[in-house]
Amino acid sequence: MKMKKILILFVLTFTMFACSSDGGGNGLDPGPVPIPTAVQASFVYTISTTDSHVLILDNTTEGEEFVSYWDYGLGGGNVNDGPGIEEVRYDTPGNYTIKLIVIKDGLTSTATKTIKVDESGICPNALCGGGSSDSLKSAATTFSVGMITRASWINGGGQHTATLVKEFNNLTSEYEIKMNVMHPSQGNFDFSAGDVIVDFAQANNMNVHGHVLIWHNATPSWVENFAGTDAEFEAMVENYITTTINHFKGKVRSWDVVNEAFEDGTGHPLRNSVFRQKMGDDYIKKCFQFARNADPNALLFYNDYNVASSPTKRAAIFTLVDNLGSLIDGVGAQMHISYNGPSAANIQAVADGTVSRGKKLHFSELDIRANPNNDLTSLTSVRADLQAAKFKEVVKIYNSIPLENKFALTTWGLRDNESWLLDFWGVPDWPLMFDENYNKKPAYYGFLEGLQ
Ligand code: XIL
Repeated sequence: MKMKKILILFVLTFTMFACSSDGGGNGLDPGPVPIPTAVQASFVYTISTTDSHVLILDNTTEGEEFVSYWDYGLGGGNVNDGPGIEEVRYDTPGNYTIKLIVIKDGLTSTATKTIKVDESGICPNALCGGGSSDSLKSAATTFSVGMITRASWINGGGQHTATLVKEFNNLTSEYEIKMNVMHPSQGNFDFSAGDVIVDFAQANNMNVHGHVLIWHNATPSWVENFAGTDAEFEAMVENYITTTINHFKGKVRSWDVVNEAFEDGTGHPLRNSVFRQKMGDDYIKKCFQFARNADPNALLFYNDYNVASSPTKRAAIFTLVDNLGSLIDGVGAQMHISYNGPSAANIQAVADGTVSRGKKLHFSELDIRANPNNDLTSLTSVRADLQAAKFKEVVKIYNSIPLENKFALTTWGLRDNESWLLDFWGVPDWPLMFDENYNKKPAYYGFLEGLQ
């Protein structure tokens, strides 16, 4: 204990001395040695609107006096980054990993992104083919259409898996890729249920969205009651994020890193979760950094609810996004909404705020309550049509954002009778696109109409 105090005193004295040696003006003091500052390499791309084989690359690295090089993934090695945008042709079908290497003060930072190319050109959002309206995924040519599932449903096969494969191309686990399932006790990981879902997606050419690394509602009790220091807690979280992302690397394209971190009340303070208590107010940034370190190729999202219905919560989320800077790739706006609200203008504001920040948008967790006031005992055709109109509105808003901001629109459930909302609100409802017999509802056709 005593030794520690002496050491702290020494460090403090040394630091004060080092600081006060700045600019002595005697001509002998060389002044402080500049500390090299790193820059974070980043770039965005779009597909040329006149030639689908041409990729337009834009170096968006912030800072000054750095040099940068591209590796276009075409086997030509590194080339200098010229002023303005770069246009690169990809003629041969395949996967290409593009790298931007930035060097400043001897420190190197690399950003990488992978694109897919087929005979018709570069596939938007890694989605090749498509263009017909015989399924949701083929009608939505510029973004993924997501659905949730469970390992038991995948194992059960039948109409559930047949519908997944036919209609959707982005799979999310409803609850088995959450911390309470994957990290049930200290030192133990269980990815078995997640693997069933991810392997199925791989076998059927679907993207996988990882939901979710950190969520206060899916935190195992051993983490809530963590026995150890704050530093040990943080090391445990880093190990959990790294182990999980490494396990699914190359198979899970994107992650919700943190979910629902804000309170709903006045000022939307950060929820006082165990993560905030032990890691501090910047725990979100730390978690994003752990995730980025583990897989620089994965797209990283912050996900929350009431983003459309609450302008003040939206503002709090966008402030977080601004603070995260290049650590975050996209915003997940849970779309647990109702047939009669929030308004189109408020939904549009979610899109506008995300697009203006150059981030990807995930309309995640879409379900549209048909019975929010509990005035129905069965779904009337009038209400089903109003619900369909809201599906159309949501899809139309999403489909109108620029290609580079598109990612996925994910519905939180396949059949009405399986919706989590039935338990959550405890009233009858029919919030999804398929009825309990897998029949397509007007909501399904509303989705398709929103794409036109
Ligand atoms: C829900 C699942 O649907 C349930 O099966 C589970 O018991 C609890 O979580 N917001 C989220 C989702 O981010 O993870 C939640 O999913 C629904 C609310």
